[in-house]
Amino acid sequence: MKRIKVAIAGIGNCASSLIQGIHYYRNRDPQEAAGLMHPVIGGYGVSDIDIVAAWDIDARKVGQDVATAIFAPPNCTQVFCKDIPPTGVKVRMGRILDGYSDHMAQHPQEHTFVLADQPEPDKDTVVSLLKESGAEVFMNYLPVGSEEASRFYAECALEAGVAFVNNIPVFIASDPQWAKRFAEKKVPIIGDDIKAQLGATITHRTLTDLFRKRGVKLERTYQLNTGGNTDFLNMKNQDRLASKKESKTEAVQSVAAKRLDEANIHVGPSDYIPWQKDNKVCFLRMEGKLFGDVPMNLEMRLSVEDSPNSAGVAIDSIRLARLALDRGIGGVLEGPSAYLCKHPMKQYPDDEAYRMTEAFIQDNRVDLDEVRHTGRWTRPAAEAV
Ligand SMILES: NC(=O)c1ccc[n+]([C@@H]2O[C@H](COP(=O)([O-])OP(=O)(O)OC[C@H]3O[C@@H](n4cnc5c(N)ncnc54)[C@H](O)[C@@H]3O)[C@@H](O)[C@H]2O)c1
Repeated sequence: MKRIKVAIAGIGNCASSLIQGIHYYRNRDPQEAAGLMHPVIGGYGVSDIDIVAAWDIDARKVGQDVATAIFAPPNCTQVFCKDIPPTGVKVRMGRILDGYSDHMAQHPQEHTFVLADQPEPDKDTVVSLLKESGAEVFMNYLPVGSEEASRFYAECALEAGVAFVNNIPVFIASDPQWAKRFAEKKVPIIGDDIKAQLGATITHRTLTDLFRKRGVKLERTYQLNTGGNTDFLNMKNQDRLASKKESKTEAVQSVAAKRLDEANIHVGPSDYIPWQKDNKVCFLRMEGKLFGDVPMNLEMRLSVEDSPNSAGVAIDSIRLARLALDRGIGGVLEGPSAYLCKHPMKQYPDDEAYRMTEAFIQDNRVDLDEVRHTGRWTRPAAEAV
């Protein structure tokens, strides 16, 4: 049985849901189980994943076994699998850099990050641990706005030859310079900014695409989101929000028949409501013109538990990254990045990105010579059926 060794930076709510999910599906028939986009990818099941290294900066998580740390405050996501056996892997002190925003100190400890008082590792230490642990895929789950810290861990993964999945809106996989470096080292990368299984972004994109296909002129839209987890608390600092807003807005703009003027589109995290915890509520409005220029509007409210919604996608990213490693493919995984992330290097409509990802999984028409030559899997969408 093949297994996948995963390293994680940021043992917050998303990591908690991912690790719970690995155990939740262990004794279930994956073909019958609900909530999976792919029960098996390239021979890997959902539970064929081991966490072999982890970093965080919170005093309540550093030094704990990963199985304990995922339930430590301020994590607040719904617990759907409470019995996680000890992993034998302790959470290490991470490199703080800009992972911690000063405004977090103004909130009660149960809701915010509490910095651990431990020496921070340098790059060599992280790279050595990645190599010793045998990690194959690195999951970046740092808070929004962790520009330097994300680049620090990406640098470590690249040096250790570990595939990188960038779940956050810091532009690495969509940055041509970084993409080139991953391609040159033949290290796979998926990113940026994970697109939840059935969240605000995929819903807003699908409806925008529907307007386009049905000839309805989209004139104005907003997507307001509220939540009560540390992701939302961290984003109360407007300075950290720029990349998140860009990632979420561009995800919608890129599928519109005609780009909307900036003044006519508002997409982003809108408020932090502590009692909502990990429940995210999205309020969406779209205004348009039908046949004869007759006005219409649509209002929708979506309520989802934020972190399991991302884990349902992360579980595929990990297996797709490992599949690329198995096939000797490096650089940006274009189809999977477009399908699974909000801000890929190149945007495709979701059904096209889905077909590209399915073709990648099936490996039926991938030109391996081209892949070896360029280090990237670049099959045009038209061929990817
Ligand atoms: N939930 C979703 O659907 C979704 C979708 C897209 C993107 N994301 C992004 O994924 C990321 C993780 O989300 P989350 O809900 O788990 O956040 P979270 O706040 O629960 O977890 C972040 C964790 O990172 C730790 N951390 C902070 N700085 C660090 C550093 N320098 N090194 C190591 N650890 C550090 C924190 O202590 C915390 O445990 C966020 O950036 C979020 O925006 C989530």
